[in-house]
Amino acid sequence: MRNIVLIGFMGTGKSTVGKRLAQSLAWDFVDTDYEIGAVTDLSVSEIFRRYGETRFRSEESIVVDRISRQERLVIATGGGTALNPANWSALAENGVIIALHATLDAILARIGHKNDRPLLKGPKEAIEKLWIERQKCYAQADYIVDTSQKTVDEVVREILALLERMAKNEFSDVAKD
Ligand code: S3P
Repeated sequence: MRNIVLIGFMGTGKSTVGKRLAQSLAWDFVDTDYEIGAVTDLSVSEIFRRYGETRFRSEESIVVDRISRQERLVIATGGGTALNPANWSALAENGVIIALHATLDAILARIGHKNDRPLLKGPKEAIEKLWIERQKCYAQADYIVDTSQKTVDEVVREILALLERMAKNEFSDVAKD
């Protein structure tokens, strides 16, 4: 059984949805940012402040490499995790990649007031630029779920329905062989 990997921009709901999805499936939930914090004993902001983004990305890749080898995990990645092709390959090899999408306005309404994300600290134009730049990468996911106008439960239900359809397709492919 493969992992379920949630990618997408900050504030699209990866961690909240991921936790609830894992509960529904009775699978384990892993959050890459949390794992990085556990390994380094530092918050994401502290790693960025003390050592810079390069160090954060390297810790992130180590975590991705480790968790990608496990099974039956719902994995919530950080917004930048999927941008590294090595991370993508590791996650995709053993998992279905689901991108959570949200409009920039929805994202800012959800998390714009928080200050625990170093890359959200700049002016709105800079955040918008990052959001636009990253859409191409997120669009490569196996599935995309728009979370902008939905509750967490609605998104979880949509993903569960998606997984059910996937399982049926896989089964009918096997039946054809
Ligand atoms: C980042 C997103 C954050 C965290 C770090 C960098 C990004 O995770 O990994 O601040 O590059 O988009 P969330 O997407 O969970 O906020």
